[in-house]
Amino acid sequence: MTTNTRVLIRNLPKEKLAVTDYEVTEAPVPAPGNGEVLCQTLAIGVGAGARAGLQGSASYAGAPQTGIVMNAQTVSRVVESRAPGFVAGDLVICGSGWQAYASHPEKTLTKVPAIEDPAHYVGALGTNGLTAYFGLLRCGEPKAGETVVVSAAAGSVGHLVGQIAKLKGCRVVGVCGSDEKGARLVADLGFDATVNYKDGDFRAALKAACPDGIDVYFDNTGGDVLGAVLFRMNTFGRIACCGVVSQYDTSNPAGGPRGVPGLLVNKRIRMQGFLVFDYVADYANARETMLGWIRTGALRAEQDEYQGLAQAPAAFVDLLAGGNFGTRIVRVAR
Ligand SMILES: NC(=O)c1ccc[n+]([C@@H]2O[C@H](COP(=O)([O-])OP(=O)(O)OC[C@H]3O[C@@H](n4cnc5c(N)ncnc54)[C@H](OP(=O)(O)O)[C@@H]3O)[C@@H](O)[C@H]2O)c1
Repeated sequence: MTTNTRVLIRNLPKEKLAVTDYEVTEAPVPAPGNGEVLCQTLAIGVGAGARAGLQGSASYAGAPQTGIVMNAQTVSRVVESRAPGFVAGDLVICGSGWQAYASHPEKTLTKVPAIEDPAHYVGALGTNGLTAYFGLLRCGEPKAGETVVVSAAAGSVGHLVGQIAKLKGCRVVGVCGSDEKGARLVADLGFDATVNYKDGDFRAALKAACPDGIDVYFDNTGGDVLGAVLFRMNTFGRIACCGVVSQYDTSNPAGGPRGVPGLLVNKRIRMQGFLVFDYVADYANARETMLGWIRTGALRAEQDEYQGLAQAPAAFVDLLAGGNFGTRIVRVAR
């Protein structure tokens, strides 16, 4: 008989997350109730933001708990439907988390068309791709010829932000944690320059990479990178605050940077936080645009894969240490 493999949160991490903070268990496959749809997970998107959810109060996700399935966006196939809008075989984006099967109320599912690789629906065509698209275009408002800097540039959101900024005619500088990642961003994805934030002379390297200053900063990291970028921002620059990955894998996040609000006032810089959900009404159009870019080769949606649910904890721990290039995916079923 088929069972439901699930990965549960065993401990809430006090310091760095460890594989042993999770446990793999088996349970019966849940039967869908009236108005519900049973979905089989095909692929899971693993992203640093989920680490913030284990911190509790720092996250919009609310207080974390042990003994529950680790949350994540998934792309899934409908196995059985007790809801009028879905039939077996439909492809859906849902929040099944780290488990093989889940039953969902139909209103929580997004039905999506079949494409070459459904895993794009947890990457460039999922929350992270939409975050890159709306955060950059609506919050950052880049104009052709401007300099755009993005941090965690080789991550899921970051590698897409840089490419979209190039499509809009900007000069793009990526900040990342290794020279190898930087070289790939330039050679494969068309970034103009990259800076390694782990280099002792990061501030000087950033200055050299941005000779005309910075007009738009897409901030995935906060912390020291934000602190350095703030001092290179041009008058009327825009900072799109997307996330704070430098402060997730700890129970003791650092304070904010120097220069706020003084620098913001003097240079009339706009610093704006956003959540991708703010743009839900426009998701379908954005997905269509991004899919068009992927199909013409204008956008490379990089995927970095682990195989099987039992590997999800290792995939996550490795990602937090900077192991990924592009979207980290755990493939669960074909
Ligand atoms: N606002 C929203 O609605 C929204 C939606 C989705 C995601 N997000 C946020 O978007 C950000 C990026 O997420 P993602 O899924 O694209 O990332 P990701 O693919 O999970 O990659 C995270 C990357 O962060 C880098 N990193 C780790 N520790 C760091 C540190 N101390 N300082 C600087 N960089 C560090 C690592 O690369 P290196 O090798 O470069 O260190 C790692 O590969 C996160 O902050 C997430 O919370 C926001």
